[in-house]
Amino acid sequence: MTNQSKALQMGKKSIAEIVEILTLEEKAALVVGTGMYIAGIKSVIGEAEGRVPGAAGNTMNINRVDIPRTILADGPAGVRIDPYPYNDNTKSFYATAWPVATLLASSWDINLVKAVGTAFSNEIKEYGIDIILAPGMNIQRDPLNGRNFEYYSEDPVVTGYMAAAMVKGIQANGVGTSIKHFAVNNQETNRGSVNAIVSERTLREIYLRGFEIAVKDAQPWTVMSSYNKINGSYTSESHELLTTILRKEWGFKGYVMSDWFAGKDRIAQMKAGNDLIQPGSREDIDAVIEAVNKGTLSIKVLDQNVERILSIIRKTPSFKGYKYSNSPDLKSHAALARRAAAESMVLLKNKNNTLPLTKGAKLALFGNASYETIICGTGSGQVNVAYTISISQGLTKAGYSNMALETLYATYIRQHKFDHPNRQSVSLGTLWIKPELNLDLETIEKSAQELDIAIFTIGRNAGECVDRKIDDDFNLSESEKILIKNIADAFHAQGKKLVVIMNIGGVIETAAWKDYADAILLAWQPGLEAGNAVADVLSGVVNASGKLAVTFPMKYHDVPSSKNFPGTPADDPTKVIYEEGIYIGYRYFNKFNVKPTYPFGFGLSYSEFAYGNLELSSTTFHNRIIATITITNTGKFAGKEVVQLYLSAPQNKLTKPLEELKAFAKTDLLKSGASQTLTFTLHAKDLASFYTDQSAWIADAGIYTVKIAASCEDIKATKNFTLAYELTVEKMNKVLVPQVNINELE
Ligand code: GLC
Repeated sequence: MTNQSKALQMGKKSIAEIVEILTLEEKAALVVGTGMYIAGIKSVIGEAEGRVPGAAGNTMNINRVDIPRTILADGPAGVRIDPYPYNDNTKSFYATAWPVATLLASSWDINLVKAVGTAFSNEIKEYGIDIILAPGMNIQRDPLNGRNFEYYSEDPVVTGYMAAAMVKGIQANGVGTSIKHFAVNNQETNRGSVNAIVSERTLREIYLRGFEIAVKDAQPWTVMSSYNKINGSYTSESHELLTTILRKEWGFKGYVMSDWFAGKDRIAQMKAGNDLIQPGSREDIDAVIEAVNKGTLSIKVLDQNVERILSIIRKTPSFKGYKYSNSPDLKSHAALARRAAAESMVLLKNKNNTLPLTKGAKLALFGNASYETIICGTGSGQVNVAYTISISQGLTKAGYSNMALETLYATYIRQHKFDHPNRQSVSLGTLWIKPELNLDLETIEKSAQELDIAIFTIGRNAGECVDRKIDDDFNLSESEKILIKNIADAFHAQGKKLVVIMNIGGVIETAAWKDYADAILLAWQPGLEAGNAVADVLSGVVNASGKLAVTFPMKYHDVPSSKNFPGTPADDPTKVIYEEGIYIGYRYFNKFNVKPTYPFGFGLSYSEFAYGNLELSSTTFHNRIIATITITNTGKFAGKEVVQLYLSAPQNKLTKPLEELKAFAKTDLLKSGASQTLTFTLHAKDLASFYTDQSAWIADAGIYTVKIAASCEDIKATKNFTLAYELTVEKMNKVLVPQVNINELE
């Protein structure tokens, strides 16, 4: 290396000095990815793939000034790279499939999610990846969104603090994250072009709020802008979104990358503050160079984008020359994935203490997903795992005899796979085997006579690019309903019971069948240790402690967004109007008195918990209020309790939800009789609503009610405090204004 290039080494120069030295071509190459490489197919565009085959994208290396290539890989549920890179079958590069985001959110346990993030980051780093394209954190606006498995909740506070915990866990190990998809990407139908028409208040209070919490609380290295438009502008081309809001208002310091092939106008993306175009192509680089030469893109803007990218590259393991091992600690991660899944599952029903199962019970295990258990969703969010543990395998390992029906199902599943060979590709994630194996009454009745208890697993899968359907997806199919009824009737006739397990990625209807079940466990998609985690909960080794982070409605059309999903025209939507405004999820069901089957925040335990007196630090608000409450385990099982703090605000001028979640906490594992005091702090922003006419967060004067709850419907303790005078908490810019009037729900 010559003295001159030594002096140029990025480590020894300030970023501004490096940018000075870079040529226009080098700058243009830095703001554009190196192209898309799809495993097995020669590099589709531009450069060959980077050091990590199967990674979603790279940033360009500029060797002259010692800037390394950095590696960006998917996804929210685990590292997604080629399991056999370079066709070397001697070394498998498998990864941990973590519990999917919607399951992790059901833990309501920030510390648990952070611990998953830390273990996850070991795999990211040891496989030579610099930035993981995660967490996904769009609001679960409508149950039919195909990617809800990759997102956390219907509520922005749960979403924001779960994402922040994941980001902090991952970044503590010196690798980066990319919170996505910023913003209002709440459907897959026409995601690359659909225009989401949303009011300013709904944007601020619901769809941006989670990202705001994550940026301010965890400072993710990068943000991924989304495919869609907001109020007429592609998010990747929106200066108001990516510069005014994200940077000037929220203080984001990293760089913004586009989603893959997102948006249309590369130069508008550069000007908006979308610093990196992914996956990138030769044409993109040429377009940037031409725009600077023609004067349609100021070199100052290009330099700023380059500086932001370099400021993150300089933090990466690649820049630091980290010698990654390709041998992450998958064994200990699998144990954590198992614990995280078990502590997140939600016990929705447990009539007459059907669960935990009696040790060694003879189980009649029904349902394709009992044997082909769905560990994660499909698309960029799926993970190449070394193994999966099905519910059947998990129950066997836990000492139950559950093989009576195994041969029937194994034969059916084998035939199904033979009949659907193209659905086996790894990129499709776990197969959802449908329809259900049709068992005749005689088989079911014989099982009821010979075995102790029935377990039926409902399976569902979905993922990127496609939204779900109402029939045979959100609603159970006729064959599933008949099967559940026949099993329930046969076992109840013998004085025996039925447990239903929901192995799903998104909300389904439950009202039509939940009365047949004596117990219901919502397992969501539990990752590679699925069956062991389910067995841990069914057997009582782990006491159920998860709660719903999304509402389960009586029927699909009870959901407020259902009138406007996925937009109009129905067969090929170009726009989707968020007419329900801020009233999504429990905000809607509580305010408009629509009864769900299972409410937001609901979940049972094998134990019971008593809520003590709620104490507030003051009855008048000055700059914060501290709420404390003591929780006692009054049951006989050791267990953890999720405690939620909702706030009801005065409705003098602006209509508001009846109450909104402002904070939450999970107790430690409390032994029978043990107590723990939890403390919550409310700041001025927590009292405020967004007033569009003033573009400001304003806390109205009046009486506020703190509600400590076990779910949004189960209020355990309340106490009031007063805000004596109206408080303008934060003045924002007037941006992202809808171009049309929205007939918003009031
Ligand atoms: C996909 C997804 C995004 C993913 C990216 C790279 O289209 O929308 O979540 O990270 O492309 O695979």
